[in-house]
Amino acid sequence: MFIESFKVESPNVEYTENEIHSVYNYETTELVHESRNGTYQWVVKPKTVKYEFKTEIHVPKLGVMLVGWGGNNGSTLTAGVIANREGISWATKDKVQQANYFGSLTQASTIRVGSFNGEEIFAPFKSLLPMVNPDDIVFGGWDISDMNLADAMARAKVLDIDLQKQLRPYMESMIPLPGIYDPDFIASNQDSRANNVIKGTKKDQVQQIIKDIREFKEANKVDKVVVLWTANTERYSNVIVGLNDTVDSLFASLDKNEAEISPSTLYALACILENIPFINGSPQNTFVPGLIDLAIKRNSLIGGDDFKSGQTKMKSVLVDFLVGAGIKPTSIVSYNHLGNNDGMNLSAPQTFRSKEISKSNVVDDMVSSNAILYEPGEHPDHVVVIKYVPYVGDSKRAMDEYTSEIFMGGQNTIVLHNTCEDSLLAAPIILDLVLLAELSTRIQLKAEGEGKFHSFHPVATILSYLTKAPLVPPGTPVVNALSKQRAMLENILRACVGLAPENNMILEYK
Ligand code: NAI
Repeated sequence: MFIESFKVESPNVEYTENEIHSVYNYETTELVHESRNGTYQWVVKPKTVKYEFKTEIHVPKLGVMLVGWGGNNGSTLTAGVIANREGISWATKDKVQQANYFGSLTQASTIRVGSFNGEEIFAPFKSLLPMVNPDDIVFGGWDISDMNLADAMARAKVLDIDLQKQLRPYMESMIPLPGIYDPDFIASNQDSRANNVIKGTKKDQVQQIIKDIREFKEANKVDKVVVLWTANTERYSNVIVGLNDTVDSLFASLDKNEAEISPSTLYALACILENIPFINGSPQNTFVPGLIDLAIKRNSLIGGDDFKSGQTKMKSVLVDFLVGAGIKPTSIVSYNHLGNNDGMNLSAPQTFRSKEISKSNVVDDMVSSNAILYEPGEHPDHVVVIKYVPYVGDSKRAMDEYTSEIFMGGQNTIVLHNTCEDSLLAAPIILDLVLLAELSTRIQLKAEGEGKFHSFHPVATILSYLTKAPLVPPGTPVVNALSKQRAMLENILRACVGLAPENNMILEYK
């Protein structure tokens, strides 16, 4: 059964005019490796830590500024939100299609809230805590191509033509602001697109981005802005002592107009200086160490890297299942071909390398979780190939072969073939990223013994379900397994309203 909304009644939860206050017992374990009677042994001690959460109820008017607004993802997301907001439907060869938010965790998935008369009761994910309604988002952003969003949508060739016709009047007047362009960081085949660029030194460019954000905020009367990079994948920047390894070196390099500071790092720097959340949806190392330190110092949210939309999402489900079942994946081979501008940009070796890196670490946590299957340091062979094939456009093909060792030396090979429009996978993920980033800035917490409430760590691991190579604070474990990432997010939001984590025990019926 499905319910639209619910309210928690508990001595641990208080709803005031401005916030939800919850007291939450975090059940965890403490491990000790100690000598008892002369032999060392592991001792696990369950422990309970009392946490308090405070969530601001008032939902702001949200502005979202996309870097790469006129790209396939940017135009598809903008179009999709307008179509939902305006209740647009359109004829396809099969049926009359209504706008929807399928593929969005917050808008189209549910959570289990309990049982009622022997039936499981589910509610929308978004009913857990007050979240911005995507229909109310004001979009804006930058692009190195000056094409308006209606033409950009046509250039992307993603949406049905009847839908495009209806959306054109809403999107023609949307024109991206000039972007920071540095041909050294993306493929040379992008040069012909770059007719809308910010001039000046890198410092001038950062100042211009700050000015753009302030003006956008003012012009649209939005309370908060989130900025998200969905522009071309850049090559990795070199991380060098004295260049970008500390906050001071990064600022010194900015003063010297150092060539090695990438455009994405400049946008992110501007956002951190303005305390605006910045999310990186591409694989490059935008967040160089000096920038991460600055975000931590200024307590400004950063999150990334690289949307987890298709092949990697499947990988982080399938390998989790295999290793969790006691089966040993020994070879994972992934081929992709795609024909959109992203694919063209990735056809250069240095930008492809960024993608290869972000795709390659995705099974590490699952492999290292099972020393019965893998020797220390042992790892499955893992190869990723991406080819540009213009004809298939945005309709990306992903082919994967998983070979595993099973019982008694047997071998099992699974082959997957996935075809779909890449941007229709990415757009709802972008939506979730900005909605959850905004929500997380309204949550404060403290553990018992901590004097003051504080926000989550500025490196937003809460977003990791949505990213291929989750950025984590230094010294923090990286979790890639999809079900664990989703459970983490859901359970933290449940804690904010005083609900126990979903433990799937269903003891009532045992
Ligand atoms: P796209 O090439 O259609 O769009 C990128 C846009 O960014 C272009 O309009 C380009 O003119 C603009 N641009 C490039 N450099 C810029 C800069 N410095 N400042 C402002 N604008 C700039 O690519 P698409 O398909 O929209 O993908 C965007 C990014 O998202 C790519 O890096 C891609 O790897 C990443 N991504 C996409 C996924 C998907 O579509 N399923 C999944 C994971 C990541």
